[in-house]
Order: sequence, then structure tokens, then C-alpha cells
Amino acid sequence: MIISERPNSLITLVEDKGQKIAMKVISPSEWMTISLLEQSYKNVMDIQCPYMVKVLEVVKRYETITVKMEYLEGYTRMEYDDNEACETVLDICQHLADLGYVWLDASPINLLEKDGDIKMVDLDTIVKIEDLPKKLEEPNLLLTWYASRIIKLMSNGER
Ligand SMILES: Nc1ncnc2c1ncn2[C@@H]1O[C@H](COP(=O)(O)OP(=O)(O)O)[C@@H](O)[C@H]1O
Ligand SMILES: [Mg+2]
Repeated sequence: MIISERPNSLITLVEDKGQKIAMKVISPSEWMTISLLEQSYKNVMDIQCPYMVKVLEVVKRYETITVKMEYLEGYTRMEYDDNEACETVLDICQHLADLGYVWLDASPINLLEKDGDIKMVDLDTIVKIEDLPKKLEEPNLLLTWYASRIIKLMSNGER
């Protein structure tokens, strides 16, 4: 069954040894190179974050990356104007920044929620801060991260 279909990504629900799994096949685009994708999922495997969807397996095949992850059954996407979701995005960005990473696609619409349990999906752009200058192919994406850092600072009364 197809969960989501976009020009550069296809997410399907598959069964693996009786377990329901979400499988995302990603192909590179103008700004999302195969090496950025590969590095991003390597980073994901090194990060402990309670909000992150559990990634089970990452395979590079020809020019695509296939990611097997836990299927978040019954979860729904959060909305841009959901205050709780925005707060959670800020917390996640802060947590990742403390670990030395930036989530370039940080956004409430990449959070899924069920009964107050929130998980981040779309882990295609988890970048090491030290890698940013050479890995960044689309500078506008950085704005998401900077914006969330700035809002956090402002909300702490530090600016
Ligand atoms: N692990 C998952 N379990 C259940 N649904 C998922 C999962 N990952 C993604 N989805 C669904 O697919 C949609 C698109 O996922 P996302 O990773 O954001 O794709 P894209 O790269 O196309 O933005 C999500 O909004 C969600 O509805
Ligand atoms: Mg997305």
C-alpha cells in the first residue's frame, strides 16, 4: 500500500516477518544529492532522540536510498499553526544542535502525532553542523534552522 508519493520519494507500507514497516525510497533531486541523503541516514543511526522515528535499515541501491522504519500506525501529521508542534520543533532543533546536528527540514508538518506521542519523520536532511558549508546545496533550507534557533533565543529572553 502506498502511504505517500512525491516526485522524489515513495513511502509504502510493507510486511517484514509479520511486522508492519514503512519503506521510503528516495531519489536525489536538484538540491538533495545522494551523498547528502546517505550521510543524513548515517547521522540518524548515531543520534539518540526520543522524538525520532525508529530507523531499522538503510540501503543504497544504484542512485536511490531505501529506508526501512517503524510504521507509525494511526499517527496523523501535525499542522504548521499548531503551537505544540512548533514548540516540539524547537525542542528537537535544540536537542540536535546540542549533539552537533541540524535538521534542515525541521517543520511541524514533518511531525506525526498520536495521543500526545510525537515522532519526527523525514530524516533526509540531518546534517552535522561541521559539514554544513560543504554539504549545503540549498541555502534557503538553513533558514528553517536559524529561524527556530532565533525564536528559541527570543523566547528565552536572550535577545
Ligand atoms: N514511518 C512512518 N509511518 C507512517 N507514516 C509515515 C511514516 N513516514 C512517513 N509517513 C507518512 O508519509 C508522509 C510523508 O513523509 P515524509 O517523510 O515527510 O516524505 P517527504 O520526503 O515526501 O516529505 C508523512 O506526512 C506521513 O503521513
Ligand atoms: Mg516531509
